[in-house]
Amino acid sequence: MKVTKADGERRAAVIERNLTLELVRITERAAVAAAGWRGKGDEKAADAAAAGAMRAELDRVQISGKIVIGEGEKGEVEQLYIGENVGAGGGPEVDIAVDPLEGTTLCAKNQPDSICVLAVAERGGLLNVARDLYMHKIAIGAGYAADLVHIDRSPTENVTALANAKGVPLSEITVCVLDRPRHAALIGELRAAGVAVKLISDGDIAGVIHAVNTEDTGIDIYLGSGGAPEGVLAAAALRCIGGQMQGKLIFDSADKRERGDRMGISDFNRIYDVSDLAAGDVLFTATGVTDGSMLQGIRLRRDYIQTSTVVMRSWSQTVRWITARHAR
Ligand code: FBP
Repeated sequence: MKVTKADGERRAAVIERNLTLELVRITERAAVAAAGWRGKGDEKAADAAAAGAMRAELDRVQISGKIVIGEGEKGEVEQLYIGENVGAGGGPEVDIAVDPLEGTTLCAKNQPDSICVLAVAERGGLLNVARDLYMHKIAIGAGYAADLVHIDRSPTENVTALANAKGVPLSEITVCVLDRPRHAALIGELRAAGVAVKLISDGDIAGVIHAVNTEDTGIDIYLGSGGAPEGVLAAAALRCIGGQMQGKLIFDSADKRERGDRMGISDFNRIYDVSDLAAGDVLFTATGVTDGSMLQGIRLRRDYIQTSTVVMRSWSQTVRWITARHAR
């Protein structure tokens, strides 16, 4: 189902707009909890602190929520597991995707761009993917022909098409890629093509968002594979801010194909666009833990704690940047 703003105007929003601020509180709380673990070298503790705070705050919100992208399967993790019911009840029936701490390593090392992320969609709106599933991703900004780039084309073909559409030489195209050994060939090909490669050590939700915010970031395109949950969360953001993205799930083992079957996925080569990943009414919120290119990190001051959050709503395409001071 594709819902553009125009479609949204024709039908009532399913998710009340009042929920926007409630969601901000959730990622704010998670980020404050994680901030206590910045630079302490303990990724698990940082993630657990964020997840615990997120879980507690979710139950204060008037929704009948179900976790569809969570910390793991039921029985594997205690909270925020797939299928867990959350919320205070009443309110809209919604599906929820969480990444309580995106960039656990970044937080543990106190490096830039660690964030707490949550997306809410009307029931059935989010592609349900397991925590450990990976996805090939490609993303560019809005305003290009729908078939300009394609996940099945070579990196060279895609950056060349993009450079031609922008009317710039390849040397002026910047590609964001996760710095991983598995991307060695991709990075080599991109460098041979003459584009600039911006390597990020973690955090491809922000990477994808940066690729559609080219004016602010200078990044033209995101390429490479990363977590499938992060792909769905990035798509939720793109539903609100525009931009193109394609994702292809990676079923590289019998176990993953079996789980794909259980998830009801019949075509393992399917290419998902933004609206296949996140459909209908969608809200997205992220709060910075460490200082980053998208959000400021938590500021712990003597009398107050300052948080920096972005919250977006697909129906209205509103993007709010909220800096909040919380008394200690
Ligand atoms: P975590 O916060 O779960 O560590 O994820 C960070 C991240 O960089 C994601 O943004 C990305 O999608 C994923 O890891 C990539 O996975 P891998 O580190 O296995 O390449």
